[in-house]
Amino acid sequence: MLKKVQETTAYIQSKVSVKPDVGIILGTGLGGLAKDIENQQVLSYGDIPNFPVSTVEGHSGRLIFGQLGNKQVVAMQGRFHYYEGYNMKQVTFPVRVMKYLGIKHLFVSNASGGVNPDFEIGDVMIINDHINLLPNPLIGPNDKEFGVRFPDMSQPYDHGLIALAQEIAGKHGIKTQIGCYVGTTGPTFETPKEYQYFRIIGGDTVGMSTVPEVIVARQMVIPTFAISIITDLGVPGKIVEITHEEVQRIGMQAEKKMTLIMEDMLQRL
Ligand code: HPA
Repeated sequence: MLKKVQETTAYIQSKVSVKPDVGIILGTGLGGLAKDIENQQVLSYGDIPNFPVSTVEGHSGRLIFGQLGNKQVVAMQGRFHYYEGYNMKQVTFPVRVMKYLGIKHLFVSNASGGVNPDFEIGDVMIINDHINLLPNPLIGPNDKEFGVRFPDMSQPYDHGLIALAQEIAGKHGIKTQIGCYVGTTGPTFETPKEYQYFRIIGGDTVGMSTVPEVIVARQMVIPTFAISIITDLGVPGKIVEITHEEVQRIGMQAEKKMTLIMEDMLQRL
């Protein structure tokens, strides 16, 4: 895999002059942050050697380079999910490439279902821990180049970045929640008892992404920040039918809050 990562990195560097300091992965319905990136240089996933091609609606599948909040960034507009049929090495391949492009921080966003009864639809949750219920992306031969065989996970989400996000949210009067994201395979949303189970084991939200990318980023010792938009509630008495379109719609409504926090954080890194 190292050779593939190097080949892809070299291709991107031959096409793009931006040297990104920060990598950003934009989740379902949250791709609008990309509009704020200045002096854009854009590559379609389909044109990048070794890149999988994104298939889900709401994920347009482009790597956007440019400046945001005083920083050189690379943003993934569209990510790869295990439920699409990619294996976990494919799902996390772009994070490896972003590391080789030189990123010092990774910012991740997603949409999720709240299982904490104090949460409301449209809330923004800063992720401070996760429970991985997907196959671990590090299973298989380990290339020492990428990091250790048994990565530490005592601080999966960087405490300094979390504190910075909370300070910025407070300054803007944005209410944030903080908690644990449960990563599942999907593609089904949860049954009522599954939501209850995720609450019992310590989850605050559940979703189908993020954890694989964060595991790989942590193996490569990249400080990581992740934020989730609560698009529906898996709370007894509040569970209603949910669709992907609804997830996208709520995600888009709440996106401004997330964008504001992330852009201010970039200024302050
Ligand atoms: N469950 C899993 N993934 C999700 C949900 C959910 O309720 N909402 C948005 N993504």
